[in-house]
Amino acid sequence: MNPATADNRFRLIEGEQLQSESFAEAVEAGLARDPKRLDCRFFYDETGSLLFEQICELPEYYLTRSEREILARRSGEIARRFPRDTVLVELGSGSSVKTDLLISVWIAEHGSLRYEPIDISEEILRESSLQLLERHRRLTVHAIAGHFEDGLRRIEAAESGAKLVLWLGSTIGNLTRPRAVAFLRKVRESLSERDGLLVGIDLRKDVAILESAYNDAAGVTADFNLNLLDRINAELGGHFNRAKFRHEAKFNPETGSIQMFLVSEEAQEVTIDETGSTFSFGAGERIHTENSHKYSIDEIDELLREARFELAERWFDSNGLFSLNLARPLP
Ligand code: AVI
Repeated sequence: MNPATADNRFRLIEGEQLQSESFAEAVEAGLARDPKRLDCRFFYDETGSLLFEQICELPEYYLTRSEREILARRSGEIARRFPRDTVLVELGSGSSVKTDLLISVWIAEHGSLRYEPIDISEEILRESSLQLLERHRRLTVHAIAGHFEDGLRRIEAAESGAKLVLWLGSTIGNLTRPRAVAFLRKVRESLSERDGLLVGIDLRKDVAILESAYNDAAGVTADFNLNLLDRINAELGGHFNRAKFRHEAKFNPETGSIQMFLVSEEAQEVTIDETGSTFSFGAGERIHTENSHKYSIDEIDELLREARFELAERWFDSNGLFSLNLARPLP
């Protein structure tokens, strides 16, 4: 490793675009469904990613703060459980701000580190990697711009030492439970027995706390949700008037998830030029835009077991709102 310049320690690999369905096709299919549906992965255009960063700092949005607190307290313990040559692979790394806590402690414990962040946004990857490299002279970053599946393929192909896969922020909550199991199984298949998985999972709790985290007083989450309509307008020639829709986020006890919707304030028709389609909305009709599943401890144990992992350690923040779970692959 050459610690001289940040550039020498940085490599960016472009993953294959596994996403077969384009934004236009997904919007077309989702709005033709009953009930209407748009996938939450489309939140993250440039504006959406910036809004999400703001959400993470909101007083009501306890998830990021809680996970940060756990990482600040437990990073030493985590790092000491893995050998020196372990590669840190992060799924959906985003700005890597929380991971920096673990990276700093890891380098202090082991002397150096190779970090492999995987994110859909090449720009965010480049920016956050270079910031990390400037702060840490003993860090190497091999970033992968692509979908999680691209990252998993890389994890499988890497012939290096042990791996610790990080999946933070309760991103797992945005998948349905069966999909979360299926995805964790794929992660399991790409790991060997000396590897580990560190997954941040938001807990079931008082509905008022949950709902206020997704209905912040400053209206940032509403903006984040409504930005999806702006994105359709900007990229697909849509004619949505966002003033005619409102944000809604409610806990559904049956699915155990916060569900976000865009609610049509009145009966209206909206045309999308690129697809040439017109969609009718009834007054009060909703577009379902996100699920954010909340897990009980038993449900987390079940999830890990079904995906063929075994819990090694679980940590909570001081308010008991959020969990960080270290798991090892079962043989
Ligand atoms: C990225 N994901 C874990 C966030 C969540 O809490 O489900 C996205 C989000 N949606 C509204 N606020 C935050």
